[in-house]
Amino acid sequence: MTMQTQTTSFGSLPTAPSIGELSTRSYSFLQTFIYAESGIVLDEDKQYLFESRLRPLVLRENLGSLDALCDRVASGRAPSLARLVVEAMTTNETLFFRDQTIFESMKTTVFAELAKAAGTRRLRIWSAASSTGQEAYSVAMSLLEAGFTPGQVEIVGTDLSDQVLERARSGKYVQFEVSRGLPISLLMKYFTKSGLDWQVKPELRTMVRFERLDLRGSYAGIGPCDLVLCRNVLIYFDATTKQQILASIARNLVPGGKLVLGCAETLIGMDHRFERKLYGQSTFYSVR
Ligand SMILES: C[S@@+](CC[C@H](N)C(=O)[O-])C[C@H]1O[C@@H](n2cnc3c(N)ncnc32)[C@H](O)[C@@H]1O
Repeated sequence: MTMQTQTTSFGSLPTAPSIGELSTRSYSFLQTFIYAESGIVLDEDKQYLFESRLRPLVLRENLGSLDALCDRVASGRAPSLARLVVEAMTTNETLFFRDQTIFESMKTTVFAELAKAAGTRRLRIWSAASSTGQEAYSVAMSLLEAGFTPGQVEIVGTDLSDQVLERARSGKYVQFEVSRGLPISLLMKYFTKSGLDWQVKPELRTMVRFERLDLRGSYAGIGPCDLVLCRNVLIYFDATTKQQILASIARNLVPGGKLVLGCAETLIGMDHRFERKLYGQSTFYSVR
């Protein structure tokens, strides 16, 4: 790895170390590897994405080049590095109360309908692909705001990435994160200031558990659910994987249980067992 300099009107300035470009061979290795490990499809035009996301790993591990990183992963002798490569290629964008109307519908109608069907049983809600946890905690806050007690519900958040799960479990968010989507009244009610960060209060924290789960694998550890939020993740998969995941979710719902997708997502054109029902402006799906 070489430190380069760039000549500007201010003289010679150091530029970022060069890690070389991804060769065609490495590019195609990464596409196949990421698909096998996560189901995520990365098309031909993702050169920049690979380079920008993997660059910190190359530098941190002192590997010198992207190709050297790929060779190391391909050797099969660096499983933790291989996991970090997969994690780096996941997109973890999320925010509190993402697609606010969905949370409004849950609070005003959906939770009550599910609770009625559940009788004395606790409601089980699954935030599949929970990323850093904002979705699961938003569900927990909505339940409390709707009058439920922590003992009446069980929320599980799952993700493929250990790094995001660790953050979700910590329940700690920086100012920028709590200023995205979270009303100030709920911030004051359910979080405490912890240095520069905000910490989820124990009441909320105990309502949610986080586990590692690949959506393409078994859901045995989750148990039958009343509500599944599978939002902004199916977009990364091909049609076969999407269909396989939808079929698994359908099998994992109690009768009358519901699935909710991201606002911009739809099941149109897919082979599935769900029927669509509108609650206000929000779409929820139940098994036919
Ligand atoms: C864009 S985030 C969505 C977060 C949240 N559901 C939302 O809508 O704000 C997508 C998440 O899916 C996770 N993911 C990607 N592939 C996965 C897989 N095969 N199994 C489980 N989670 C996966 C990523 O790690 C990432 O955290």
